[in-house]
Amino acid sequence: MQDLKYFLPYQREWIKDMSPLKIMQKSRQIGISYADAYHSVRVASRKTSRFDVYISSRDRFQAKLYIEDCKHWAEILHEIILDLGEILLDPDHNASAFVIQFANGKRIYSLSSNPNALAGKRGHVKLDEFALHQDQRLLYRIAKPVTTWGGTLSIISTHRGIGSVFNQLIRDALENGNPMGWKVHTVSLNKAVDQGLAEKINEKTGRHESRADFMRRLQSECIDEEQWLQEYCCTPADESSAFFSYEMLNACEDRNIKLMSFAQLRAYVAGCPLPSDGRGIKGEEPFPQKTGHGSLGLRQENYEPREWLQREQTEERLYRRV
Ligand SMILES: Nc1ncnc2c1ncn2[C@@H]1O[C@H](COP(=O)(O)OP(=O)(O)OP(=O)(O)O)[C@@H](O)[C@H]1O
Ligand SMILES: [Mg+2]
Repeated sequence: MQDLKYFLPYQREWIKDMSPLKIMQKSRQIGISYADAYHSVRVASRKTSRFDVYISSRDRFQAKLYIEDCKHWAEILHEIILDLGEILLDPDHNASAFVIQFANGKRIYSLSSNPNALAGKRGHVKLDEFALHQDQRLLYRIAKPVTTWGGTLSIISTHRGIGSVFNQLIRDALENGNPMGWKVHTVSLNKAVDQGLAEKINEKTGRHESRADFMRRLQSECIDEEQWLQEYCCTPADESSAFFSYEMLNACEDRNIKLMSFAQLRAYVAGCPLPSDGRGIKGEEPFPQKTGHGSLGLRQENYEPREWLQREQTEERLYRRV
């Protein structure tokens, strides 16, 4: 494959690996989602392809980025695609996916993290940033059967603590006889740099940083040793002394909560409709979205603040919000 020369060796290894179960523990920002999107396009677009490809990303934003990468690769590979946009897969759980379809009728579904979206599906499954999912166990339980009829399962992640399901899978594979039969890929920043990552980044940034300087800079920009080890060296943080584990913290996150801009806050306390910058990515979703705790009650009929309440009312609304 001529195009594989563009990729770095560890990316090539990941792309070429067709094992039914493959898992990667990785450093941040080494180009794996990007390379994996290429793999998805190759797999789904083949004439003989039997399956759709489902990717579960950390959130809606990452899901959109992944499908954008797929579109980029489809164009480079001269594959004609139908961009089906965002499709609602499971109305009960509000689970949707960005979808493209190839000439052979096979599709790539790029889902945000809702595991229920995978229920009842059949095909290849990729779980990106797995250790960041709110419920890794449930996601794995729902994802694995999707591959029963010959699909493959790929898991990609940077570590999030020693107590994660992701770390359990890696440890079982590397230290406990690999009962499930995973093909394990480990790509630390050091390995990626050894294989040419710094030069690739230099090409994009216009810098002329040596490999050693690049490594030194990234390490010195870490807030502590734990960050360096976990984010870049494939070493999960030991949470035994922490009050909350990463899994507990992930489970409490609400990805729909967003910080308001000053204009949005001002409109909110004034009880006015949302200003135009209050819309989500490409304007599809109004901001703020429903959080499951009830929406914030902002209206959208027009986007200019109409009137300002008295100071006391403003403060009263602010305190209520807090
Ligand atoms: N071989 C390559 N040549 C040039 N650019 C590349 C190459 N591989 C990846 N990139 C670029 O690297 C950037 C980061 O890629 P990507 O998001 O896939 O990394 P990642 O390892 O998945 O990061 P994260 O840890 O945040 O999930 C992207 O902007 C992509 O365009
Ligand atoms: Mg990624």
